[in-house]
Amino acid sequence: MCKLRAKDGSMISSCSSRATRASSDSVLLSTNIKCQILPSASVKIFSYDNLRLATRRFRANTMTGEGGFGCVCKGWIDENTFSPCKPGTGIPVAVKRFNPESLQEHQEWLAEINHLGHLSHPNLVKLFGYCLEDEYRLLVYEFLPHGSLENHLFRRGSCQPLSWNMRMKVALGAAKALAYLHSTNIIVRDVKNSNILLDTDYNVKLTGLGLAVNGPVGEESHLSTRIMGTYGYAAPEYVATGRLTQKCDIYGFGVLLLEMLSGRRALDPNRPAEEQHLVDWARPYLKHKHKIRCIIDAKLGGIYSFGAVQKIAALALECVCLDPKKRPTMDSVVSVLEGVQEAEEPEAAEHQESNKKVTASRKNGKSRWNIFGGGPS
Ligand SMILES: Nc1ncnc2c1ncn2[C@@H]1O[C@H](COP(=O)(O)OP(=O)(O)OP(=O)(O)O)[C@@H](O)[C@H]1O
Ligand SMILES: [Mg+2]
Repeated sequence: MCKLRAKDGSMISSCSSRATRASSDSVLLSTNIKCQILPSASVKIFSYDNLRLATRRFRANTMTGEGGFGCVCKGWIDENTFSPCKPGTGIPVAVKRFNPESLQEHQEWLAEINHLGHLSHPNLVKLFGYCLEDEYRLLVYEFLPHGSLENHLFRRGSCQPLSWNMRMKVALGAAKALAYLHSTNIIVRDVKNSNILLDTDYNVKLTGLGLAVNGPVGEESHLSTRIMGTYGYAAPEYVATGRLTQKCDIYGFGVLLLEMLSGRRALDPNRPAEEQHLVDWARPYLKHKHKIRCIIDAKLGGIYSFGAVQKIAALALECVCLDPKKRPTMDSVVSVLEGVQEAEEPEAAEHQESNKKVTASRKNGKSRWNIFGGGPS
């Protein structure tokens, strides 16, 4: 997924060799950086050597994922002392490495510490600590065994497709995390499927607060910022003007809902031009009740409540509204999703049969358009 990066990605330090970095300049730099880290009792400082031992020298088979900045490795640490221990003992952690020579990566590393170190919510990932040593910048998080929503929706082979009920659970968890962050005046700016992590019971743990900022204060209605985020999820008014509000996160959340509904990526360069941008492609279907079935993910196997699908489609449409003022608040998104979850169980059984018939006719080779009467208007 492409990231919108700042154009002025100047280096935090012009030093490039290790020998130069080990100089007194580097010590001063580390001291300055430490001053930028807000003290937090819950965030521990790890040494690079201990993280190297915990992840068996960041060996390839400890790699659990890869993002825009590099690999995330799985390691093991002692629960009480936080020292490295043998795989399978102690607690598992996810260790993410950042490149300090990139100002952007350094800032995201710092923002993640300063936000996650001071926040606590059942749907937010726990940050155990960080490493700041010479040129090393790392973060140590709780390890989420089911990885990211991205893996479950789009990576073939590795995981089972998520059921409709599970998708609704994930949507509600992510919405609660965002509602919490908005209540603390934080705008996430990078709502996307790879930042929705899942624990053993598929509870959401939101991560990726590296681009998060504190929302507008006082009379201000928005923040004027450099345009950062991820293509496909970034709200159009933000991309056009750099004006950031909580409503930008609501747009990103609407895109997530559409991904869960359709099984398509927010941006997919491998599709025909008119289908690459999920919101533009899906919008016409969402507007017409009888066309919504055309965009439902075939991997659901027809097992879903159509009533619930309609409500989610309506909610997604509201979230991706071009006028940010018409988008709902995250609190009202949570209420809608809670309502859908409560109503879903009995309805799911009722609709299962008719949905299966639709899937069967698709398997027989009929195109979506033939079944449901025309393409998007
Ligand atoms: N705490 C964690 N536990 C388990 N797996 C994780 C954890 N954090 C990240 N991962 C895995 O690593 C992958 C990459 O995460 P990462 O945050 O580095 O990249 P990204 O979100 O795709 O992009 P970026 O953060 O660079 O914008 C995730 O999709 C997930 O599979
Ligand atoms: Mg991420």
